[in-house]
Amino acid sequence: MVFFVVAEMNFLFYNYAMNSNELRQSFLDFFSKKENGGHKIVPSSSLLPTDPSVLFTTAGMQQFKPYYLGEESPWGKNVASCQKCIRTSDIEEVGDERHLTFFEMLGNFSFGGYWKKEAISYAHEFVTKELGLKIDYVTVFEGTEGVPFDQESFDIWQSLDKNITIKKCGRADNFWGPTGDEGPCGPTTEIYVSGIEIWNLVFNEFYQQKDKTLKPLEIKGIDTGMGLERLAMVIQNVPTVFDTDIFARLPERQGGASTKEERIIKDHTRAIVALILDGARPSNKNQGYVLRRLMRRIMMYPGFSLDNFQVVKNVVEAEFKAFTVAMKEGLKHVKEDMDAQEIFSLYETYGLPVDVLRDKIKNFNQPEFDALLKQHQELSRTASAGMFKGGLADHEPATVKLHTAHHLLLAALQEMFGKEVKQRGSNINQERLRLDFSFDRKLTDVEKQKLESMVQLNIDAGLNVIQREMPLKEAQKIGAEMEFGVKYGNTVSVYFIEGPSFAKASAGQSKDGVVSKEFCGGPHVGNTKELGQFKILKEEASSQGVRRIKAVLR
Ligand code: SER
Repeated sequence: MVFFVVAEMNFLFYNYAMNSNELRQSFLDFFSKKENGGHKIVPSSSLLPTDPSVLFTTAGMQQFKPYYLGEESPWGKNVASCQKCIRTSDIEEVGDERHLTFFEMLGNFSFGGYWKKEAISYAHEFVTKELGLKIDYVTVFEGTEGVPFDQESFDIWQSLDKNITIKKCGRADNFWGPTGDEGPCGPTTEIYVSGIEIWNLVFNEFYQQKDKTLKPLEIKGIDTGMGLERLAMVIQNVPTVFDTDIFARLPERQGGASTKEERIIKDHTRAIVALILDGARPSNKNQGYVLRRLMRRIMMYPGFSLDNFQVVKNVVEAEFKAFTVAMKEGLKHVKEDMDAQEIFSLYETYGLPVDVLRDKIKNFNQPEFDALLKQHQELSRTASAGMFKGGLADHEPATVKLHTAHHLLLAALQEMFGKEVKQRGSNINQERLRLDFSFDRKLTDVEKQKLESMVQLNIDAGLNVIQREMPLKEAQKIGAEMEFGVKYGNTVSVYFIEGPSFAKASAGQSKDGVVSKEFCGGPHVGNTKELGQFKILKEEASSQGVRRIKAVLR
């Protein structure tokens, strides 16, 4: 789910460089077209492999191991994938700029199809032409007992770029594999960009036996791996993998760089989610033990106390529920033929994912949709640039909560006394809200109690608070509450407090499920559940025909 949210939001933040989804796609597209017949794109395998000699999937080649040994590949000789991987060998390194326990690895593979010339040329073309990156240097295997210097790769690199720097390295750096006790392995050539190893090309020429001796393989194979997160870091020109779009949506302390602990929490959280989804459960052995260690490790950090964990759990759960309801509601309105504006308003109102819309609507038109999205984003930017009236003393959480309660109180007053009750003034700070409204007599105790419980019902109903930008005319047409005496521009920001249809009509919900709609610059809480206990402190006269309520949240 985390990945889904990240993916959805990417476009907002990384217009200037390819985001991780685009990178992944461009790699797979590139290889699906290369060369005779292209590479078959194979889905990632599970993090928990069938091979009993390894705990986790640590590399893209693992699911293909038998095909290097002569078994026929169901996908043909040349394949490419984006493989999710877990590597715990570097766990102590996690928290620096580029190590992760969970990551995605892009790779192209060949089982007796092509060899070094093609593999190196493809990699060179993808990095320098497709991505437009400059290669710092490459490394090739310098040779060791029984395995000679890789002259062939050296020559191929020189033929592609006569000025390229080629370094020779030994067995520790430029020989890869096998995974587990035995298997295919061989010399490598590695590509460095911005000082970082981004791509490892392995030439599987040998089979390492259990006794560690090497036996030449009958079929020569290609196995390459390029970490998506590192590639994103280089492409997006950010200092750490944690600053790429992949992590940018996860919670971050405000201001400044993330601390090592925060990065570890981010990394481990991804690993934990991915492992649980692939079927691992905490236990005292094998994969379950690693999962348990990852979980307990982050639970030790102050930023991830059990209390905070409850908060995260509740937020995720609430969002999940709200989204399920919104999906169900939204899907009711989907028809096979819809115009772009209708489609966009579904997207905006219910947050239906674009993929779903594209799938279900026959005449879905992507360029038209994109144009509306762009227009909307521009409006949002104007909104956040402060074009709309805000009126809050500060943006402290307590003040923001009281602001939302203020909207609920006005709605309750109108529900009780009619729409002609209007706001005549307001003042909100961290301690209390103050609402002045047009009304010509003192409220009775019973009326005050009833107001309190109407507001409370809407708080407890867990209603969503949603901001929408719309043309002034439209906002007026739907009867959004305007602030007295304010002149509005052509586009206005309206805050809706609305719930799934289960919220009771007696709690002040109109038939369309909207409790409140007000012209407002925000900010507000996301869901009324966050507000707690609403209490009216005082009701008094303010001026002729205007009453004043002071209320708090506990
Ligand atoms: N198997 C090699 C690696 O994991 C290349 O894919 O680095």
